[in-house]
Amino acid sequence: MQKLLIVGASRGLGEGLARLALERGSTVTAVVRSRAALAALGSTSARLTLLEADVRSEPEIERASRGVNTSFDVIVYNAAVHLEHDRRDVEACDPEALAATFDVNATGAVRTVKWFRRWLKPRGLLVFISSEAGGITTAWRTSEFGYCMSKAALNMFAKLVANREAALGNSVRVLALHPGWIRTDMGGANAELSLDEAATTILDTLGRSLEGPGPVFVDRFGAPLDW
Ligand SMILES: NC(=O)c1ccc[n+]([C@@H]2O[C@H](COP(=O)([O-])OP(=O)(O)OC[C@H]3O[C@@H](n4cnc5c(N)ncnc54)[C@H](OP(=O)(O)O)[C@@H]3O)[C@@H](O)[C@H]2O)c1
Repeated sequence: MQKLLIVGASRGLGEGLARLALERGSTVTAVVRSRAALAALGSTSARLTLLEADVRSEPEIERASRGVNTSFDVIVYNAAVHLEHDRRDVEACDPEALAATFDVNATGAVRTVKWFRRWLKPRGLLVFISSEAGGITTAWRTSEFGYCMSKAALNMFAKLVANREAALGNSVRVLALHPGWIRTDMGGANAELSLDEAATTILDTLGRSLEGPGPVFVDRFGAPLDW
């Protein structure tokens, strides 16, 4: 993979993917809310470009997209929030938290495709970092409404975008990728995977996925998941 755009790359998996891609010789454009957050990465590589945008703001996403002057092999939408770690019951659910979660996890992906899709190469890869929490057939939780519902919505968006690419006769591949349970701010200290383990497997999978068609909703190895 030569050129990647990663949206939501200030910390956690997004930063892990950006750091590893740079180590592997790729060129990375990272969309972050605050440039300060990526200062360390920025000072170590001339192959890193930083763009500033909050994914909740269409004007900011549009402005960031106008700062691009190259085409990408891979676009990764990684930004997300999980505002219901307390797992409160539906009777205590805060609809504002639900809406705020949707705004980042699902609608932010729509804004990103709207403004950045034009910068994807004809045989490029469009990746939405999703979650098994967005799978309906396999759902096991009884709460975390905003997170699970927004990831199911993100999965639907990924499928619609895949349909659109096919209808237009494009060779763009679309993935909704569950990255595994990772030790990040969101995943917590007890999670199964280190950042390096997750980022390594995911970048390897993205490299293989560039080579041809396959399922949309997949795990970090590229194996299909139930919607
Ligand atoms: N960790 C896990 O176990 C796990 C499991 C399944 C799926 N996932 C998915 O993997 C992805 C990465 O998760 P993570 O664990 O790395 O999460 P994280 O540590 O909480 O990082 C979230 C990232 O999203 C960015 N972000 C949030 N709101 C944003 C906004 N409004 N505008 C721009 N950027 C925004 C954050 O930027 P700021 O620094 O500016 O807040 C940060 O870079 C997410 O899509 C998540 O749902 C994670």
